[in-house]
Amino acid sequence: MGELWDKLTELSNSEMYPFHMPGHKRNTDSSMSTNFLFDHDITEIDDFDNLHDASGLLSTCQKRANDLYKAGETFFLINGSTCGVLSAVSAVTKDGDAILTARNCHKSLYHVAYLRNLNLEYLYPQYVSGYDFCGSVNPKDISEALLDNADIKAVFITSPTYEGVYSDIRKIADIAHSHGIPLIVDEAHGAHLDIAEGMPEGAIAQGADIVIHSLHKTLPSVTQTALLHVNGDLVDRDRLKRFLRIYQSSSPSYLMMASIDDCISYMTQHGDEYTKALLTYHDQILDAAKSLKHLEVPGYSVVNDPCKIVISCQNTLISGLQLYDLLRTRYGLQPEMACKSYVLMIITGMDTRKGIERLIEAIEDIDASIEARAKGACPKESVKETRVDEIDICNKVVENCYDTSDFKPLVLNKKMSLKEAWDSEHEYIQLDNSVGRISGDFVNLYPPGIPLVVPGEEITESLIRSIKENLAKGLNVQGIKQRSQIRVVV
Ligand SMILES: Cc1ncc(COP(=O)(O)O)c(C=O)c1O
Repeated sequence: MGELWDKLTELSNSEMYPFHMPGHKRNTDSSMSTNFLFDHDITEIDDFDNLHDASGLLSTCQKRANDLYKAGETFFLINGSTCGVLSAVSAVTKDGDAILTARNCHKSLYHVAYLRNLNLEYLYPQYVSGYDFCGSVNPKDISEALLDNADIKAVFITSPTYEGVYSDIRKIADIAHSHGIPLIVDEAHGAHLDIAEGMPEGAIAQGADIVIHSLHKTLPSVTQTALLHVNGDLVDRDRLKRFLRIYQSSSPSYLMMASIDDCISYMTQHGDEYTKALLTYHDQILDAAKSLKHLEVPGYSVVNDPCKIVISCQNTLISGLQLYDLLRTRYGLQPEMACKSYVLMIITGMDTRKGIERLIEAIEDIDASIEARAKGACPKESVKETRVDEIDICNKVVENCYDTSDFKPLVLNKKMSLKEAWDSEHEYIQLDNSVGRISGDFVNLYPPGIPLVVPGEEITESLIRSIKENLAKGLNVQGIKQRSQIRVVV
């Protein structure tokens, strides 16, 4: 076997428990036999239809998915939600058009803006009060932006966000429709919504025109599998299909498509079980969190989505990165991601009771260690395997793309279009010398990849401060060379 396969096997045989994507949680109960790799891998041969012009078997499979989600029409995606976002936005715009989008959207939206030379008008979701992440999109902001700019051709938002915050899709869809334009909802993190009783309503039921789901994020389906749903008649479906053909592989993997179909069958038959398990796990974690003294796990009023568990260490002695390291190295629990003041864990209905118990024990144990440390009972010992010596352990909230002190977004001036700036001649210069220059690249905090600066925007002192502080915290800042140089337009 190759090295990559051996490494995957090693992980699979280890005790490391996945609190991250994919949503199947490496739990084989739900899915196809594991010996399928070459046995079932084919291309578009007789009797197996063609995804790019589905009229037989694959058309039936897509209809089955559509029955579950109850949209106008549903398409399988084998290049992830990424190609869904590229296709959806391309279908509703022409070269040079303007779209209204939340700043905290996934990089695929920025990539389609580059490919189609779009003008992005931003909405800036405010920080959730007391936490270090973005909240929902305010419908009033959308209303005002559409009144200000009659050239906007579509609204694009992400809901749920990476941290599990929902926006009011029904209101936003009504506003977009009152201007005669479509609403695209990147619901990559919400494929589990509306699937069974007890689950909140999703964007399809609330009137969005295009909804994109990453099945692999929260449901039992392999990585890269996703769906695109379209509703109503504001979207030209022939154009949409054209772009799906452009952005998807011309050799769609039958293994992935079989996994999508298997996931849909599983959720159709066992959606209630999945939902019950997920909500029970969520409640168990939230119940246990009530007795924590330092760490905090915010409930539904802050993190609306049951698949997301945010463990906040705001105002404790440890940072999000240290908490992440502790969970991984001491307790064998792999989180989805760490931010400055919290760690994000993904749970799904495919988790096991044992896995959830391990998480609860770990959170309680770490909380007790922080308590002991705060009282001076065990200095250093409780966090000795972590990066405690490398970074400032005083968990001060710092500014990134947003100024968290007063929850006001940091807005940068757009001096050039994204496409023009990204294609321009460029040079790398020291961050300290870059004030007033035009950024020639994205600088992203990863994950989830929300840009601190977009090509074409003017670099400011507060942006530089933010980049430096994120680097100093040990966070993954992409787009900065040798930790000190930024690419600028010449
Ligand atoms: C909000 C959001 N949209 C879209 C995507 C892209 O999804 P995929 O990985 O299925 O291509 C992601 C991936 O993380 C995401 O977080």
